[in-house]
Amino acid sequence: MGATEDEASRRSSAARRPRSSSRWELRLLASVGAALLYTALVAPVALGDNGGFAPVAPESPNAEGIRDSFIFVSIFILAIFVLVQSLLIAFVWRYRRRRRDRFEDGAQVHGATNLELLWTAAPVVVLFAIGTFVFLELPGISNIPSAGATGERLEVRVTGKQFYWQYEYPNGVVAIDTLRAPAGVPVRLEVTAPEEDVIHSWWIPALGGKFDAIPGTTNVTWFEAENPGVYEGQCAELCGVEHAKMLAAVEVLPEREFDAWLEARETETSELGEEEWVGVCAKCHGDTGEGGIAPRLAGSPILLDPEALEELVRNGRGEMPAVGADWTEEQVDALAAYLEENPPRGS
Ligand code: CUA
Repeated sequence: MGATEDEASRRSSAARRPRSSSRWELRLLASVGAALLYTALVAPVALGDNGGFAPVAPESPNAEGIRDSFIFVSIFILAIFVLVQSLLIAFVWRYRRRRRDRFEDGAQVHGATNLELLWTAAPVVVLFAIGTFVFLELPGISNIPSAGATGERLEVRVTGKQFYWQYEYPNGVVAIDTLRAPAGVPVRLEVTAPEEDVIHSWWIPALGGKFDAIPGTTNVTWFEAENPGVYEGQCAELCGVEHAKMLAAVEVLPEREFDAWLEARETETSELGEEEWVGVCAKCHGDTGEGGIAPRLAGSPILLDPEALEELVRNGRGEMPAVGADWTEEQVDALAAYLEENPPRGS
């Protein structure tokens, strides 16, 4: 009887041993696999030629402050990540089960005053360092310079609407989606949205942080770009079906060129008409009016009837929002004139 039991238990433990070692191998394989997968997923993002994890190159002092804070915080994040992962691997190795029975506890540790002091004090020091750095950077990020080197400052009202950006300059000039600005001049932006619209978010990464465009509320931000060029961004708040098409750009021009553009736009509105077609109508109705998420427009008699067109953009129709509810007469006329000269062909 006894011999049989012994034999049976020996047999069963012999049968168990290879299975448990294969389970151990399986676990190791799974860990290595997970690590490789993680690396494969993260590496392209981290090493991407768009800067990877790093913010885009700043072109305005406030964006510089944001970039510097990001890098400062990242140093701690990286150090803590490496420390925690290394300790984890070291502990897994050092305190592995070896031949100890599956349900037997390993060596116990009771209290480690120095360690406890260390892991309480270290985070306090890290948070204090990060807090101090960020508070020192903050004025440079949020305070708008009163005037640039030339003593000037430009103010622009930025309104987010489904699904375009509208800019209003002090002289009444209106532009859509692309904001022109002079180089080397601080530009103060009042970011808002109409009462009947939804929340959008103004974001040109090279020129500073995100600012929400909230119906009925005005948020203020600014930028000052030294280098002429086009800086691109995107509405950063999911605002409806065409959110992805709600792109934004700032075109920084040499100051004299900007002044000339702003003056010309006071009297010449054909550029505005085109911006309205591309930015306001075409995102839903198609570039040539061929139809998209909204019906085909090409060939519609409304396009050539200024009164019907005005009634449509001011009041909307069915699912179409009142995209031009608060447009000036000049804006409505600019669109009508553009459509008259460039009737969409539908292909
Ligand atoms: Cu507007 Cu997203």
